[in-house]
Amino acid sequence: MDDVLRLRDYIYRTTGMYFPDSKRYFFETRFARRLQALKLNSFREYFEFLQREPEGKKEFRELIQEITINETSFFRNLPQLKALVDLVLPDIMKHKEQLNFYSIRIWSAGCSSGEEPYTIAMLIHDRYPDLHKKWKLEILGTDINEKMIEKAIAGEYSEYTMRNIPPRFRNRYFSRNERGYYIAPELKRMVRFEVANLMDDVQMVFLKKFDVIFCRNVLIYFDTSSKKKVIEHFYNNLLDPGYLFLGHSESLYGITDKFQLVHVPGGMIYKKKV
Ligand SMILES: C[S@@+](CC[C@H](N)C(=O)[O-])C[C@H]1O[C@@H](n2cnc3c(N)ncnc32)[C@H](O)[C@@H]1O
Repeated sequence: MDDVLRLRDYIYRTTGMYFPDSKRYFFETRFARRLQALKLNSFREYFEFLQREPEGKKEFRELIQEITINETSFFRNLPQLKALVDLVLPDIMKHKEQLNFYSIRIWSAGCSSGEEPYTIAMLIHDRYPDLHKKWKLEILGTDINEKMIEKAIAGEYSEYTMRNIPPRFRNRYFSRNERGYYIAPELKRMVRFEVANLMDDVQMVFLKKFDVIFCRNVLIYFDTSSKKKVIEHFYNNLLDPGYLFLGHSESLYGITDKFQLVHVPGGMIYKKKV
């Protein structure tokens, strides 16, 4: 078998990301960069290197950095974020108040460098400034790309990255020095980050009991069978009421009927059926 395709299939099996033959230029050049970095002579040698313990595991993390597409931004798809604070959280709070259970857990799965979970934190803090007096709020950001998670934990952003943040939020939640902008400590305390692979069953078992899951612009790189697997995890990891937010070009059509489509002003979200 063509060794480049063998590597492509290995990425698919381990991460769910599927690159069709038409994207060969993309994946071949990314694999070639790693080959060069390790001074190896062929894709076959590189594939064998990846299987070796313990170097293979470390190299896999380097390869992930080459092939993941980490594009993101603050305040991305604002109508959905508004739906979170205006509709979804009130529904969850109403339900949990009846149970005397004052905890809210939100997961940003595939959070890249942290802009999505920090935006969620900003909007919740702004809309519900006294929430912490009664509620325990946990926002978790996870990504398969270790470097992105390191960036998210650092919480330092460039002028360009800040472009979509309304001035009121920029002034309230960031400080600035000559190198860039920094997330305010009160916001940082609201968000926790972890490296996690959505295709790893063992890791997924530990990510449980969320009220809301954001997984936006992640599954676009997955094929139907890996999408089905990840969405099944999400279904099992959500409480009732439980909400799932996908990217604006993504849907559960042909994936599962275990979620109900909810139209919100300017967008759509999913609610777990029970
Ligand atoms: C395009 S970014 C989306 C970031 C953010 N959710 C947004 O919408 O702005 C996709 C992210 O998904 C991550 N990703 C891809 N496959 C993954 C997997 N199997 N497990 C966890 N994260 C994954 C990538 O590393 C990347 O950071």
